Amino acid sequence: MENIQAMADHWLKFLICSFVLLIAQVQGSEEVPITFLETAVENGAVCLDGSPPAYHYAKGFGDGASNWMVYLEGGGWCKSEDNCYSKVKIPAPGIGNSYKKGNTTTFNGILGQSQTMNPNFYNWNRVFVRYCDGSSFSGDVEEIIQIHRRGARVFNAIMEDLLAKGMRNANNAILAGNSAGGLATILHCDGFRALIPNAARFKCIADAALFVRGKDLPGAEDKRERPFATIVAFHGIDKFLPKSCTSKMDPGLCLFPENLLGDIETPIFLVNSAFDSLQIASNLVPVEPGWNNCTKDIKFCTSTQIQTTKEFRAALLKTLPEDNNSSRGIFIDSCFYHDQINYYPRWSGPTSPKLNNKTMSEAVGDWYFDRSSFQEIDMKNDFPRNCTQDHDI
Ligand SMILES: *[C@@H]1O[C@H](CO)[C@@H](O)[C@H](O)[C@H]1NC(C)=O
Ligand SMILES: *[C@@H]1O[C@H](CO)[C@@H](O)[C@H](O)[C@H]1NC(C)=O
Ligand SMILES: *[C@@H]1O[C@H](CO)[C@@H](O)[C@H](O)[C@H]1NC(C)=O
Ligand SMILES: *[C@@H]1O[C@H](CO)[C@@H](O)[C@H](O)[C@H]1NC(C)=O
Ligand SMILES: *[C@@H]1O[C@H](CO)[C@@H](O)[C@H](O)[C@H]1NC(C)=O
Ligand SMILES: *[C@@H]1O[C@H](CO)[C@@H](O)[C@H](O)[C@H]1NC(C)=O
Repeated sequence: MENIQAMADHWLKFLICSFVLLIAQVQGSEEVPITFLETAVENGAVCLDGSPPAYHYAKGFGDGASNWMVYLEGGGWCKSEDNCYSKVKIPAPGIGNSYKKGNTTTFNGILGQSQTMNPNFYNWNRVFVRYCDGSSFSGDVEEIIQIHRRGARVFNAIMEDLLAKGMRNANNAILAGNSAGGLATILHCDGFRALIPNAARFKCIADAALFVRGKDLPGAEDKRERPFATIVAFHGIDKFLPKSCTSKMDPGLCLFPENLLGDIETPIFLVNSAFDSLQIASNLVPVEPGWNNCTKDIKFCTSTQIQTTKEFRAALLKTLPEDNNSSRGIFIDSCFYHDQINYYPRWSGPTSPKLNNKTMSEAVGDWYFDRSSFQEIDMKNDFPRNCTQDHDI
């Protein structure tokens, strides 16, 4: 009797496991366990709350076994002692605590393991680095207050660990990230490349990182310039910013990609919506009921609001480097989204935006492997699109 019960339990577990695996395969997603880097603590490479940094690692296989993608998570910034402290105290998505919600995370989009949904990178070594410093992995202040400001040390400690795990011998490599992690990708792109000088191919991919200064748009000083200047000063990011920028302007302004991209020597691909929903909702317009309705569902936007989003689009397009260097990739769509590459179906699914008949998965893959360059901006739609329901038009 006990045996039968045990066998039934065993089969039930087996069936549940198979079912979970099947669902994961159907969605092209994969649960990947976390690794805490305890050894980093003695070097002061710690999260805001003093805890060890962490990443999720999926080992490469097949012909991807010696290729590495390091992906930096996003989650905004924090800009004062109280502001950072409040973020680490309350477990919530974003800076500091998102990794404490569970010990696995789901990989999909550019990190996904499904060959159909992510044909170019599915079998690479893929690393998702948790964001826990509030400074785009760029802070470095010795003094400890209620919190630690050590984003740059966290980045270095994790890279050292990955180099030792085999990344040192990478054949192909990518540094990627979204939002605050996309900005970190821009900031660290050339430096990361120098860590793997023998890689045959090294490129960066920054998603939803084109944070626009827009000095003639609403909220320039209050919502964009002053916050960036405060973040730079509070986390001590200034010493980390390129001299080519800080010699010309205030360090706070050197956190805007438009002032950084021209000097990056490593090939970089910029994926962004021209109607970046987070920037429009948080960095551009006042938080008020009318705008809340519009940024939640664009069918509630008034014509004045649509006009404001069009002005934002024009400002974002102006931030793109003017040199047209074909080693730089550009994919600017019109979906009312913020992050895109780490989500299926945005990255490659049926409702994925297409430019020049390519999804971002195809465009980025062809550019990465030098099959063709890609610099496309959606010129057909100069209004925000709801891509969760529309197929590409
Ligand atoms: C994650 O793992 C750590 C160390 O193994 C453990 O202390 C913690 O409770 C786990 N957290 C969750 C949410 O499972
Ligand atoms: C284009 O960018 C690459 C690196 O991204 C650089 O090596 C090359 O010199 C640039 N070409 C021009 C014409 O600026
Ligand atoms: C926002 O939407 C709610 C619910 O549809 C509606 O009741 C409210 O009047 C709208 N507010 C504005 C300012 O349009
Ligand atoms: C897109 O449309 C769906 C269904 O009508 C709606 O729930 C969602 O909020 C819309 N998204 C945006 C960004 O407008
Ligand atoms: C870059 O391309 C745009 C559009 O194709 C063109 O108008 C511009 O003159 C080009 N700039 C340079 C520096 O070649
Ligand atoms: C678009 O791409 C698909 C497959 O990727 C191809 O079958 C189709 O012919 C292409 N359409 C055009 C207009 O190039």
